[in-house]
Amino acid sequence: MITSEQLRQKYLEFFKNEKHATVPSASLIPENDPTVLFTTAGMHPLVPYLLGEKHPAGKRLVSVQKCVRTGDIDEVGDNRHLTFFEMLGNWSLGDYFKKEAIEWSWEFLTSSEYLGLDAKKLAVSAFDGDKTAPRDEESAKIWKSLGLSENKIVYLPKENNWWGPAGQTGPCGPDTEIFYWRGENEFPSESSNPKDDEDNWLEIWNDVFMQYNKTADGKYEPLKQTNVDTGMGLERTLVSLNGFVDVFQTDTLKPLIEKIEEISGYSYAVDKNITRSMRIIADHLRTATMIMSDDHGVAPSNVDQGYVVRRLIRRAVRHGRLLGIKENFCDKIAERVIQMLSDVYPELIRNKAFVLNETAKEESKFRNTIEQGLKEFEKLLDGFRQAFEKTGMLIKQISGKQAFKLYDTYGFPLEMTQELAVENNLEVDAISFEDAFKKHQELSRVGAEQKFKGGLADTGEMSVKYHTTTHLLHAALKKVLGSHVEQRGSNITAERLRFDFSHPEKMSETQKEEVSNLVNYAIEHNYPVTFEETTVAEARKRGATGLFEDKYGNLIKVYSVGDPLSEPDAHINSLTFSKEICGGPHMDRTELLGKFRIIKEEAVSSGVRRIKAILE
Ligand code: ALA
Repeated sequence: MITSEQLRQKYLEFFKNEKHATVPSASLIPENDPTVLFTTAGMHPLVPYLLGEKHPAGKRLVSVQKCVRTGDIDEVGDNRHLTFFEMLGNWSLGDYFKKEAIEWSWEFLTSSEYLGLDAKKLAVSAFDGDKTAPRDEESAKIWKSLGLSENKIVYLPKENNWWGPAGQTGPCGPDTEIFYWRGENEFPSESSNPKDDEDNWLEIWNDVFMQYNKTADGKYEPLKQTNVDTGMGLERTLVSLNGFVDVFQTDTLKPLIEKIEEISGYSYAVDKNITRSMRIIADHLRTATMIMSDDHGVAPSNVDQGYVVRRLIRRAVRHGRLLGIKENFCDKIAERVIQMLSDVYPELIRNKAFVLNETAKEESKFRNTIEQGLKEFEKLLDGFRQAFEKTGMLIKQISGKQAFKLYDTYGFPLEMTQELAVENNLEVDAISFEDAFKKHQELSRVGAEQKFKGGLADTGEMSVKYHTTTHLLHAALKKVLGSHVEQRGSNITAERLRFDFSHPEKMSETQKEEVSNLVNYAIEHNYPVTFEETTVAEARKRGATGLFEDKYGNLIKVYSVGDPLSEPDAHINSLTFSKEICGGPHMDRTELLGKFRIIKEEAVSSGVRRIKAILE
């Protein structure tokens, strides 16, 4: 077995031999970047140097960096997602580029002196190219020259093979990602690759070629120097090296699971809900401990990073309750984290008393009200049941006011109420929760809420999501209201979409619900979104909607959601959900969009209606 300590050492040693200077992990709280709450990657503290400033340690650096990412928090509980992880990284600041970076990645992974992974179990992806930058044939060529077969190299678009910036602006570029086979068979088949067989390939390392600076107005300017930024996930690589089933088997997490088993009396693998709760507790308390123990660390609070810590601890307490743990236990887990990681991160020792004290205080505070809060939640459910029995009205939503009461009086973070709601087939009106929240709280809390939810998604990506959603909405309106529906206007921000369309009257509640259900159906169905270039006449023949004006020139783009070869029709089960003339850009698949919700339907002028909608 290879331990985390051995892996860190091997990595640092390999790159030291290639003349890299070792730099220590930076703080988890970024010092000069107000746009993000946490350090999300090893490149984050290096931003000024990637932009051209001289680094005192030289042009080749290597580090083990503590990272926190809250964007995937809902995925935690599966076999691979974590909110805290360690990233092994090597950098070239205007020094070496693709050839050396890729060759060293390959050598480190496959040479028997280092990790000795079987090359037959590796596959890679490279950037497919778009308006910003061309297809990365160069990386593919280098991989081939190392012996990787053609069908283990896939090209993917920006959502997959482009990294950065870490905040809203800054250095970024195309990347090439390395995957390790984790399927049931010992070796992958000839045709299996990370694009078509996602679940069986685990991404372990990412080599980014940072050549652009994304500016505040969304432009990509070439950087003065070309850099390399790489990131290898410590926990995931340990999984690959040791043949583990999940990241919780690694020595940086397993002792936490064992401690939770001991405290709860349950065993980890006995039931999938128990496994999930244990994973959430281990992950969240490790992250909370790492944030609090940072020298710039914070206590649980209602603002910014402190609010994240509060949510992590409270969520862990709730999952602890699901495991029947009635007494305070979070500080015991925090103590275990400190024991395990203090050799690597000595700040854990320096700030130990603070961490244990704050963790225990937060848990006690929350335990004092959680019982009452859960009773209040039960009362809500009872009220819904009674309403149904008396009037036949099925209430599906917890109002913003009700969610706010749970937050304000009983300390339930919105996300926890949402989780409870889902368990009871309900949802929460998050928008009116935010309204109530804003009315009662100072603005900074809202800032933390938004940053937390936003995770890594930048405004550009949200706009693309709303753009694709607009096509789904347009198609759904036609299916529900009729073919007279035509687009009259569209406006997209990172927060919402607005769509104007021809329709003579106010939409009924049922129609709105039908439209929402259809859009969500399309999202869940995970249709591919593709485009082809064709002539206006051909597009019209194939049933595409959109403005058939000459402004698009001779060749126009037609975007299809679903099968690009058939015609869309009124049935939801038709192979093509939508087909529309449009310049793009769009998401590649619909599943990534989130949950669609109409927040308003109103008149704009005679015969024109307007819908405002959000993705949650
Ligand atoms: N910054 C790159 C990543 O986090 C290496 O994947």
